[in-house]
Amino acid sequence: MAANWKMFKTPTETTAFFTAFLPMIEGAAKADVAICAPFINLPAAIAAASGSAVTVGGQNLYWAKDGAFTGEISGPMLKAIGCEWVIVGHSERRQFFGETDETVLRRTKAAIEAGLKVILCVGEMLAEREAGQTEAVLHKQFGAGVAGLTPEEFSQIVIAYEPVWAIGTGRTATPEMAAAAHKVIRGLAAHAFGDAANTLRILYGGSVKPDNVASLMAEEEIDGALVGGASLDPASFSKIVNF
Ligand code: PGA
Repeated sequence: MAANWKMFKTPTETTAFFTAFLPMIEGAAKADVAICAPFINLPAAIAAASGSAVTVGGQNLYWAKDGAFTGEISGPMLKAIGCEWVIVGHSERRQFFGETDETVLRRTKAAIEAGLKVILCVGEMLAEREAGQTEAVLHKQFGAGVAGLTPEEFSQIVIAYEPVWAIGTGRTATPEMAAAAHKVIRGLAAHAFGDAANTLRILYGGSVKPDNVASLMAEEEIDGALVGGASLDPASFSKIVNF
């Protein structure tokens, strides 16, 4: 269960979240939990999570190790402060910040080289779903953004299927719709990476809430969730973790 806090919370609010959240998920052996926070909150999150099973990640990185790239953060920097994860290719980055399948691949390779695990996001826009292009979009995003990984790199990624029309809209894909898309992704993974596709974890993301998580997780193809809005509140995210 991964939280994507997007551009929310200060370091003080981050510490307060963990103080409330950690006791709420004590004994939740069922799920691995990761919190992906804004860069400036990562030190507070890592300090607060230390000694717990919760891991921490960034939401983006640049592919160079260092250099004259004003405003950017690299994989080795995230690793050095104790991150285990980084999200790559979120649809908001694709929509608003020029992310493409090609830059997703570069970022993913750089993150893995730095020793991070990647939550790699794919998913179709509303117009694409309505035009019956969901599968074609997944093929394209997988082909250009994932199939270029080596088998070793592939073992370090989790894929998040996030239909763009379901993100932040309160409109969730039905468990059947999500499972069908996950099946397509697992098929693409099997074609490119063989048996390693069986252990690939595929998360669903898009308006996951405490009251719909169980029906999504009941689908065999859905291995977890990437949660935005409902991850900001400790009570709500703990209910999702403890589903
Ligand atoms: P949401 O966001 O849960 O607020 O829909 C999910 C995401 O963008 O990862």
